[in-house]
Amino acid sequence: MKKGVIILGSSNSKGETYEMSAYLRELTGFPIIDLKTKNIGEFDYEFKNADDDFIPLMKEIVEQYDTLIFATPVYWYAMSGIMKTFFDRISDLLKTEKETGRKLREKSMAVLSSASEPELINGFLMPFQESAKYLGMQYVGNVHGWRENGEMPEGVREEIRAFAKKMTGR
Ligand SMILES: Cc1cc2nc3c(=O)[nH]c(=O)nc-3n(C[C@H](O)[C@H](O)[C@H](O)COP(=O)(O)O)c2cc1C
Repeated sequence: MKKGVIILGSSNSKGETYEMSAYLRELTGFPIIDLKTKNIGEFDYEFKNADDDFIPLMKEIVEQYDTLIFATPVYWYAMSGIMKTFFDRISDLLKTEKETGRKLREKSMAVLSSASEPELINGFLMPFQESAKYLGMQYVGNVHGWRENGEMPEGVREEIRAFAKKMTGR
């Protein structure tokens, strides 16, 4: 069985994206890595942030997991800033940590998103799909959630169950 990890990039560590992620964790056993608890600076052309948490975290991820599930809220029609910073830093791997970067080629990528709207805006998934392509990763799908009366509706739970099956092959 492929081992997955949920990489959570929300401004709220216990918010709506977390709630979806926690349900996925319950179904798959995949752990959650909360990017908000990490010290990950913006991409810098002189790699001034090279000593922060990004490189060790990425090494841990590529060594331990096969499927990277990026869990992000929709903020202004796009991935969260925390998630985008994480993606920008993947450029470090192409320049200074090439061995770790190369290992991404063996991995799969998927996306979990949470928004107020049930319809995921056109183009939202494109940066993930294109990044996967660029990095030689296999893009394996997404699940999208929203709230109704302040709660995760049963339809979203169902979608997460189907997604969990797909991610675990069970
Ligand atoms: C800064 C900000 C921007 C948002 N932009 C959108 C948006 O463009 N489209 C949308 O459907 N919801 C938007 N929302 C609502 C969130 O996507 C939604 O509440 C999400 O479930 C929040 O997840 P979180 O608790 O992990 O932050 C926005 C919320 C915030 C705080």
